[in-house]
Amino acid sequence: MPTVLILGASSDIAIAMARKFAANKHNIQLAARKPMDLKPLQSDIAIRYQVSCEVYGFDALAFSTHPSFFESLNPKPDISICVFGVMEDEDAAFENFEITHRMIDTNFTGAVSILNQIAQYYSGQKKGIIVGISSVAGERGRQSKLIYGSTKAAFSAYLAGLRNKLFKDGVHVLSVKPGFVNTRMTENLKLPKPLTAEPAEVANAVYAAVQKKKNTIYVKWMWRWIMLAIKNIPEFQFKKMNL
Ligand SMILES: NC(=O)c1ccc[n+]([C@@H]2O[C@H](COP(=O)([O-])OP(=O)(O)OC[C@H]3O[C@@H](n4cnc5c(N)ncnc54)[C@H](OP(=O)(O)O)[C@@H]3O)[C@@H](O)[C@H]2O)c1
Repeated sequence: MPTVLILGASSDIAIAMARKFAANKHNIQLAARKPMDLKPLQSDIAIRYQVSCEVYGFDALAFSTHPSFFESLNPKPDISICVFGVMEDEDAAFENFEITHRMIDTNFTGAVSILNQIAQYYSGQKKGIIVGISSVAGERGRQSKLIYGSTKAAFSAYLAGLRNKLFKDGVHVLSVKPGFVNTRMTENLKLPKPLTAEPAEVANAVYAAVQKKKNTIYVKWMWRWIMLAIKNIPEFQFKKMNL
C-alpha cells in the first residue's frame, strides 16, 4: 500500500486529503506543529479506512529540524503533499516586517527547506510524487494580496522548477492552485459561492490529478479563465485598478 505524507496536516484541506487518500487505500503520515491534536483524526482514519495512520511533529519554520524530521519517517512516503501556509492581514504585514517575514518563511522558505530534502531522496530512488498547494494569488502581483501573493508566486515558481529538474529522474511534481476554499483561513472573508470550493472538492481534484500525473490544476474550472483574463490586463491599466 502506498504511503502519503501530509505536511500541515491540521489544515481543513489537509484533513480532507488525508481522508480521500486513506479511503483509496493509502497509508497516511500526518505532520503538524501540534501532533497531539491530531490523535482523534489518526484513530478515526485508521479504524474507518483500515490503513496505517501515523502522526509526526513538524514545524515549517524550524528549518534545522527538517533533515531529522524526514530521516524519522518510516517508511519513507511515496507521495508528499505540502499543504501548510499562512495568510496574515496584509495591512498589518505591510507595516510590521515580522508578520511579512513569517509569511515568507512559512509559505516559501519552509516549503523549500523540506521539499528540497524530499526531492533529493526521490531523485536518488528515481520515483516519487510531490504535491504543493500554492494559490492563484501568486499569478499576478496585486495590492490586496501583496505579501501572501508574492510568497505563493515564489512557491509556484519553485514547484515548476522542481518539476522540470526532477522529470529526468521519474519524479512527478503537481502544482495546485485551488482558488477560494471554504476553510479556517478564509472563515472571516465573504467569498463568492460559485467560485468557492469545499476542502473535499480540493481533495478529490488532487487525488484525480495525482492519478493522471497532471502538472498544474485549478480546482474550480472558472479560475483558469479568470486568472488568464487578469494576467492579460495591460500593466498601464492594471496599476490603476483596485484589486
Ligand atoms: N483557503 C483558501 O481559500 C486557500 C486558497 C488557496 C490556497 N490555499 C492554501 O491552502 C493551504 C491550506 O490552507 P487552508 O485553507 O486549509 O487553511 P488552514 O486550515 O488555516 O491551514 C493552514 C495550515 O498551515 C499550518 N501551518 C501554519 N504555520 C505552520 C508552521 N510553521 N508549521 C507547520 N504548519 C503550519 C497550520 O497549522 P496549525 O493548525 O498548527 O496552525 C494549518 O494546518 C495553505 O497553503 C493555503 O495558503 C488556501
